[in-house]
Amino acid sequence: MAASITRKCVLWCVLFIACAACLNVSQARIVGTFVLPHGGIALAPKYFNTTNHTAKSEAWALHNSAEVVGQKISQLRPDVIFLSTPHGISSLTDFLFYLNTNAYGVAETDNCDCPPCCYNVTADLDFTLSQHILSELKDNSMNVSGIVGYGPPGNSEVFPLRWGEVVPLYFALKSHSTEVVILSHPSRRYNHSDEMIPELLSLGSFLYQTLNRIDQTVAVVISADLAHTHDKNGPYGYSPDAEPFDKACGRWATTLNEGDILDIAAKYVNNALSCGYTGLVMLHGLLRSADLSTWQPHLYANYHPSYYGMMVAEFMPKTW
Ligand SMILES: *[C@@H]1O[C@H](CO)[C@@H](O)[C@H](O)[C@H]1NC(C)=O
Ligand SMILES: *[C@@H]1O[C@H](CO)[C@@H](O)[C@H](O)[C@H]1NC(C)=O
Ligand SMILES: *[C@@H]1O[C@H](CO)[C@@H](O)[C@H](O)[C@H]1NC(C)=O
Ligand SMILES: *[C@@H]1O[C@H](CO)[C@@H](O)[C@H](O)[C@H]1NC(C)=O
Ligand SMILES: *[C@@H]1O[C@H](CO)[C@@H](O)[C@H](O)[C@H]1NC(C)=O
Repeated sequence: MAASITRKCVLWCVLFIACAACLNVSQARIVGTFVLPHGGIALAPKYFNTTNHTAKSEAWALHNSAEVVGQKISQLRPDVIFLSTPHGISSLTDFLFYLNTNAYGVAETDNCDCPPCCYNVTADLDFTLSQHILSELKDNSMNVSGIVGYGPPGNSEVFPLRWGEVVPLYFALKSHSTEVVILSHPSRRYNHSDEMIPELLSLGSFLYQTLNRIDQTVAVVISADLAHTHDKNGPYGYSPDAEPFDKACGRWATTLNEGDILDIAAKYVNNALSCGYTGLVMLHGLLRSADLSTWQPHLYANYHPSYYGMMVAEFMPKTW
């Protein structure tokens, strides 16, 4: 008798777990989230003009990791890539969605301009989805707006892209059947990144809720470079805050430990001068609204071959 009850129990438990797993799979609209650099050195290390072999091999490690992540994204066959850029066409105050249907742009490398070193990307923008996400975020009082070039929203004139979008899409966008949604961070991020933390966490959380309710599958890509003050001869000079900032970002990407990104990196960001920080915090808000333990973090590379740091990372939904 007791044995038969146990058997029934086990049977029901197995059924229940199987069902839960099924539901979970069918609800997994976000198929993966990724951090990719947009620095020209990661794009094409062969043009990186250095005699320092360590720096050169770090540049290749970043490039090869970005290639691996790009292949992974194409294997996931997302309907949409949601790209967050800190270097796009930006508003002073609002996060902007690009509302044309076509976009094109060129990036170059740090030591070789275009031409001859042209890296071009053409993207089909998902105007309907962009508008949907925009209106959901607006309904939740987020500072968001749309921007459209040369005609009404949804027109097919070509919206201009530059390195902040082109470099990550060069790695991530391999299929013509994948459309793109682009969110451009406001330029108040330059001097107010740390004050934006609560807002970025809310934005990430509403993004998670919206993306998980749509019909398409989505890969989230954060275009981000790290500290720009690693080298006294670089354009932004040297700050002792650069190194601990990049290390804190790397620890966060390895463990998803909240203190590293929201407290430690925040303390250094104003002198580290990172154009990636706001995207990383927004991503953290997205990830934690699903419960951090449901994601598998992985840091592929975190280096500064020249004056600026870059990292490649992924946070995949754990499979059952
Ligand atoms: C590469 O570096 C060398 C030595 O610093 C310099 O003379 C040369 O102009 C640089 N080339 C480019 C394309 O930056
Ligand atoms: C890439 O961009 C350059 C510069 O605008 C242009 O000359 C070249 O034709 C483009 N290549 C392709 C394949 O679109
Ligand atoms: C940020 O602050 C610096 C000095 O405090 C100022 O020179 C710069 O123009 C500001 N940048 C922006 C985008 O507001
Ligand atoms: C919107 O941006 C302003 C600063 O421009 C900020 O004070 C406000 O808190 C932001 N709103 C939300 C909901 O975060
Ligand atoms: C070479 O590059 C590495 C990595 O960026 C750096 O730590 C090291 O100080 C550089 N060496 C020289 C001699 O500049």
